Amino acid sequence: MARFHRLRVAAVDRLTDDSVALTLAVPAPLREEYRYAPGQHLALRRTADGQEIRRTYSICSPAPDGEAPSTLRVGVRLVDGGAFSTYALKEIDLGDELEVMTPAGRFTLPPAPGRYAAIVGGSGITPVLSIVATLLAREPEARFCLIRSDRTAASTMFLEEVADLKDRYPERFQLVTVLSREEQQAGLPSGRLDRERLTGLLPALLPVEQVDGWFLCGPYGLVVGAERALRGLGVARSRIHQEIFHVDTGTAPVATVSAPAHSTVTARLDGRGGTWPVRSGESLLDTVLRNRPDAPYACKGGVCGTCRAFLVAGEVRMDRNFALESEETQAGYVLACQSRPVTEKVELDFDR
Ligand code: FES
Repeated sequence: MARFHRLRVAAVDRLTDDSVALTLAVPAPLREEYRYAPGQHLALRRTADGQEIRRTYSICSPAPDGEAPSTLRVGVRLVDGGAFSTYALKEIDLGDELEVMTPAGRFTLPPAPGRYAAIVGGSGITPVLSIVATLLAREPEARFCLIRSDRTAASTMFLEEVADLKDRYPERFQLVTVLSREEQQAGLPSGRLDRERLTGLLPALLPVEQVDGWFLCGPYGLVVGAERALRGLGVARSRIHQEIFHVDTGTAPVATVSAPAHSTVTARLDGRGGTWPVRSGESLLDTVLRNRPDAPYACKGGVCGTCRAFLVAGEVRMDRNFALESEETQAGYVLACQSRPVTEKVELDFDR
């Protein structure tokens, strides 16, 4: 069950003009709760002017082997007008306390022998840095190819950390950087990394059919383009894992649903249940939150997956889903923040 605790900021490292890495100290009694898999994220919560805001940030540090973590490091990039990222870049200081949710997310790779690859854009490097660093340190029979795309070298997050991996694992780590607004010396032309470009580039870089797992992370356009390129090259969907960081409004069609006039949702959360009427126009998460403020969520935008629940009974329609893999939806999981009732009675279980 996801919970919030107050954690102290132990370091603030400026990565680029518009991004920082925050290191949070985890007191010994809380360490088990903050044990994380490489690739997971943390939701940070802040109340300003009477309004609560939450944002999720991926953990960039490698997952410790065996022990629970004593620190957590996350990467934060400034988003234009972003309420939390502006605060993080301009105000958060050493010694401040932040409200931090326990780790969540299924964009993870438990270390195992094999060949893996990632295609990331911008701040999408953050979870992948944790995945690669953990994998190469723990699994000598693993190889990783990282293809990253950024605007310019100066705006590239975790440049040093990635270069360090290249020095430590020259045989097992392959790095390809594509800059969209800058000429490079390495022979790669500048420009965006889209489907067409990846379709030509990937087979020249690595044996595509031998890759056991692909990790795509970044803005919506890049992730969708990379997935289409991989599918076009014959990669099975089950080998492709994705996490979308930004979705532009209007990017994805929103389903129109005619909800029954009097729907109720029954929800089980942390062992306790309740049944409440769904008000017109609200998502099932909003209904549950009015009655159970401890219900888990972070983005409310169908992106982070924190509000995942099992649909026990009834039928729902999701406005959009950028978080659940098709196996999860087939197994009966939904995003509560995107779900609207189709039947009069809907039952959700947040504990499964
Ligand atoms: S709260 Fe992020 S997907 Fe629902």
